[in-house]
Amino acid sequence: MSPTVLDLEDQPQIFDIRQNYDGLDLKGEIVRGLGSQLPTLPSLLLWDDQGQDLFDRFSQTPTYYPFHGEIEVLSRYGSDIGASVPAEGALLELGCGAVRKTKSILSGFRQQQKPVNYFALDVSHQGLTTSLVELRKLFKDSPFITITGLLGTYDDCVAWLTGLKTMRALGSMTILWLGNSIANLDSHDQASAFLARFGTACQHARLACRFLVSTDICQRDEKVLEAYNVGRPEYRDFLLNALDAANLELGYEAFSADDWTPASWLDERERNLHFYLTAKYDVLVPLTSVAEGTDAVTIHKGQRVRVVTSGKWSEEVMGQICGKAGFHIQQRWKDDSGDYCIFLLKNVTANISDRRVVQPTAGVGEKILELKKRKI
Ligand SMILES: C[S@@+](CC[C@H](N)C(=O)[O-])C[C@H]1O[C@@H](n2cnc3c(N)ncnc32)[C@H](O)[C@@H]1O
Repeated sequence: MSPTVLDLEDQPQIFDIRQNYDGLDLKGEIVRGLGSQLPTLPSLLLWDDQGQDLFDRFSQTPTYYPFHGEIEVLSRYGSDIGASVPAEGALLELGCGAVRKTKSILSGFRQQQKPVNYFALDVSHQGLTTSLVELRKLFKDSPFITITGLLGTYDDCVAWLTGLKTMRALGSMTILWLGNSIANLDSHDQASAFLARFGTACQHARLACRFLVSTDICQRDEKVLEAYNVGRPEYRDFLLNALDAANLELGYEAFSADDWTPASWLDERERNLHFYLTAKYDVLVPLTSVAEGTDAVTIHKGQRVRVVTSGKWSEEVMGQICGKAGFHIQQRWKDDSGDYCIFLLKNVTANISDRRVVQPTAGVGEKILELKKRKI
């Protein structure tokens, strides 16, 4: 399916790359998740427009070291990190969010006068538009940076990348994945599979693939638990917002925030911090799903519904995850405390050089946009 341009001329270029234009089947996922033995809600519920704002606010609280550690790494090693992105290649950011960190990376390219074609992917249309309007304002004077938005999920992005023959002109694809998002995946195996899928998609598009992945490698439990204190209003509101988002998806008030308390549990063996909503009483959640044959689910007092997980995976574990996916860690940059790290991963299986296949005249990114626009 050809992507659709969502916005008007003066707005940022945002392509709708969702494979299912009616949106995801979040409703189905809610029903299935609540009915399972260990009840869950889809973590995507956290990332609606309201959730983006709440997370952005929370992430800047003083004890939230993952944000501050990442900013520290970027400001200290920004030029080295920028140098790892080949000139005139593509820089694709997965889950770009509020682009606070992206700004400093793109500023580096502007300073070095290094041409780069930046693509920002996110599931939140409003969040993506706000972020890209801001980025375009900041970089409108720079002939070196093209900025394009992609609305969709990670899965949509893999499909888009796989089918994008015109991207060959860029020669290389650097995938920027910040905010410890890799460790929001449920397991190490899922993380490996995720990296491998992007690697394969790049191979299809004949693009040399590398990742810049940031990871919270903190092994100090006290520090972790202080950062993610669910008693703090900023974080509590972020987690409870998943219930509002679920109500919107379902189309009726299935959940009331008053019935739930946010909670967390650190699995020390797996180094995964799980976040839940715990039922204060026996809560009857009405689910009008004929397809699933379910009318309602009772979550008993004290029972937990998992919403999201944030792994605190060590460097060693990251090495194993990457190795399994066909990537090796080429470089790593850490903050002062050693608790936060940005890894540069290179694909060891693909044999594609970084050199561009086509010599561009003007910005290659612009050309791609023209091509894609014509297809719509
Ligand atoms: C933890 S935030 C990180 C935001 C930003 N990259 C940063 O480091 O501050 C995760 C971001 O990924 C997006 N996201 C989460 N799951 C996604 C998915 N399956 N597909 C696309 N984007 C997703 C969310 O909307 C959110 O903006």
